[in-house]
Amino acid sequence: MNIRVLESSASCSEADIKVYLAVEGAERLELDFDVKPAMTAHGKVTIFYGTRGSQHTAVIGLGHAKRLSTEMVRRAAGCAVRAFEQEGFRSAAVLLDAVLAEMLAFDAVLGAWVEGWILGRYTFDAYKKDPHQGTLEELILLNAGGDSGAAQHAVEKSRRRAESTMLARDWCNEPANVMTPEQLTERIVQRFDGRAHTRVKVYQGEALAEHGMNGLLAVAQGSRQLPALVEVAYASDPSQPLLALVGKGMTFDMGGMNVKTGRDLSEARFDMGGACAVIGALDLVIASGAAANVVALIAIADNVPGAGALLPSSIVRYPNGLTVQVGNTDAEGRLILADGLLHAGRLGAAEIIDIATLTGAVGHALGLRVAGVWGDPNSTKSLHELGTVSGDRVWPMPLIDDDDVLLGSDYADLNNISSSAYGGANAAALFLRRFVEPDTRWVHIDMANTVQSPTDRGYERTGATGFGVRLLADYVMQRAEQCEQ
Ligand code: BES
Ligand code: ZN
Ligand code: ZN
Repeated sequence: MNIRVLESSASCSEADIKVYLAVEGAERLELDFDVKPAMTAHGKVTIFYGTRGSQHTAVIGLGHAKRLSTEMVRRAAGCAVRAFEQEGFRSAAVLLDAVLAEMLAFDAVLGAWVEGWILGRYTFDAYKKDPHQGTLEELILLNAGGDSGAAQHAVEKSRRRAESTMLARDWCNEPANVMTPEQLTERIVQRFDGRAHTRVKVYQGEALAEHGMNGLLAVAQGSRQLPALVEVAYASDPSQPLLALVGKGMTFDMGGMNVKTGRDLSEARFDMGGACAVIGALDLVIASGAAANVVALIAIADNVPGAGALLPSSIVRYPNGLTVQVGNTDAEGRLILADGLLHAGRLGAAEIIDIATLTGAVGHALGLRVAGVWGDPNSTKSLHELGTVSGDRVWPMPLIDDDDVLLGSDYADLNNISSSAYGGANAAALFLRRFVEPDTRWVHIDMANTVQSPTDRGYERTGATGFGVRLLADYVMQRAEQCEQ
């Protein structure tokens, strides 16, 4: 997609369609036609077809001024891009009018539009006989008096953000026969090996045993695929305290011996959403050339009930001395995240964020639009604020000490499932806390409810959302700025 920022609206006449953005309840520039209230509804695309050979016009609704945000612009761009592709347009010129630019800051509007535009036309159809051929080739943005250097910079930044998010979507959407644990491991090595300030290390087989990564070994017992812990360190500024990002990369969660049932279980492939968030975020941080000291720890396995699979009642021993009895093999995520958390501790991480599609319960608690976040109150607050801006939203959830007893086992120090039917997402967070040193800043994100979208909506497409990529990258980059001060 060719994206150009132009200074004058005179030069946009070559585009197939000229696009106006309309906010409900806001003053706006005079147009040659009336903008009816219905046209300002968020995501509404109204097209006025030009007579033969002349330019078409569209009005895109951004919703009410009171709820206007960059996220609303991003989503509207996603709606617009798909509507235009359906019409077969090849180029669009968007007028980011002065009124809007004043309400939100010009670069922010422009960046949001580009991000939503690229993400909204994402497709994953490489396996179809006739993959979708997008018609749109060019996006022209008309600069309403902003600084053109800054505008170009905003375009490039948004393009990078969209690309790393689409990397996460791509890998997460891949079918289970392609994205196996060994394939995911290989792809991470290929993607990061040789990049500036980056070092990749793979723990597999013997190396897992040597490091006591017994959660991964236990969960993967029933699979023909090798589990792995992949460590990708990016130290462009080693003077910063080390931040570890731990991702759950269950390439397929069949439940293990507590086998999942259902008519169509294909969505069990999205259980690597946390890993993809970490991978995409690191990709974005590196591409941005940000000063940072981060290490991604990606715990990779599949959870299948093959011969030799982990049996309920089994007890797993961890190198921090804790033993865990497996009450249910479908609560496998916490078993492998424990390996990642302990490894982060061994590497001397001052701060750890883990992210995982961990529980169905988080969706019962929060619905499907906002992920749950537990742990350090300051980090949690930052993540909440960053998510409101980027659209990768998280909501703070509690760690209730009294509930620790729910994770008791008669035979081991812990059980991997709670004895209570309530608060399953909180219980999982309490379980993970046991694998982090109390003086380490730690945050846990459960994104089981936001990893996928059921439909095309805004800049999301049906399937993997790429949730967490922009959230984590923004966090890393904000932290780097704070370290500088
Ligand atoms: N990967 C699942 C959680 C999940 C559920 C993700 C739905 C996406 C959608 C996890 O491994 C799991 O199976 N969790 C169990 C835990 C239970 C056995 C304590 C769950 O949530 O039911
Ligand atoms: Zn499971
Ligand atoms: Zn799982």
